[in-house]
Amino acid sequence: MKVCDSLAEWREKRASDRFTGQTVGFVPTMGALHDGHRTLLQRAREENARVILSIFVNPTQFDDPNDLVRYPRSLESDLAVAAGLADYVLVPTAKEIYPDSYHYRVSEYELSRRLEGAHRPGHFDGVLTVVLKLLHLVQPRRAYFGEKDWQQLQLVRGMVEALFLPVEIVPCRTVREADGLALSSRNRRLSPAARAVAPQFAKILRASGSAAAAVPALQAAGFEVDYVEDRAGVRLGAVRIEGVRLIDNVRL
Ligand code: PAF
Repeated sequence: MKVCDSLAEWREKRASDRFTGQTVGFVPTMGALHDGHRTLLQRAREENARVILSIFVNPTQFDDPNDLVRYPRSLESDLAVAAGLADYVLVPTAKEIYPDSYHYRVSEYELSRRLEGAHRPGHFDGVLTVVLKLLHLVQPRRAYFGEKDWQQLQLVRGMVEALFLPVEIVPCRTVREADGLALSSRNRRLSPAARAVAPQFAKILRASGSAAAAVPALQAAGFEVDYVEDRAGVRLGAVRIEGVRLIDNVRL
């Protein structure tokens, strides 16, 4: 496994014979890798000759500067998770990814303004812009995204279609702890007390008769609720517990 922290070096590698005629699978991440990411990497490994992982805590998708500062960073343990699964790990700097100082960006004007977008202004502009840049840099045949970030997945698919990008977006099922809590890098920030309550989030989303009924049930369990909404056969929610924001969704 080769770690590339310079885009010039990566571009040279990508243009080399090693990639000629080989299918490339790509897993974009912000690091703090867990078993959910491992599943994406395993799937990419099974389906492609070359697997590329990117680790980049993308500043433009954080609407809250404190959230960006507090986002977990753990490159050494991330590389241990990726070992044997990824062939190359891209760890670019923000300066390299944004030579334009983010003057050019991708905006979607419908779904991106709802749900997460309504609570995190500009979040999906940052996500779509960085994903487009990474897809150009990596030129994968397939790119792997988790269904936990349902809205992100739909928006990336929409962008790929709208901009005629030659890549297949592969959705991967949410990986959960035994008690039902969806794996997320943010779970590391839960106190033991909050961690004990957190599995109630998915349970209540699943058990409630309607999105509206889920809200008071979540509040009674100790969550602050940003939203719960049913959309396209999926119940989506975002909550906060002791200041840690969790998102999840369940099929109806
Ligand atoms: O899902 C994530 O980790 C990020 O939003 C992504 C897709 C890597 C873009 O920064």
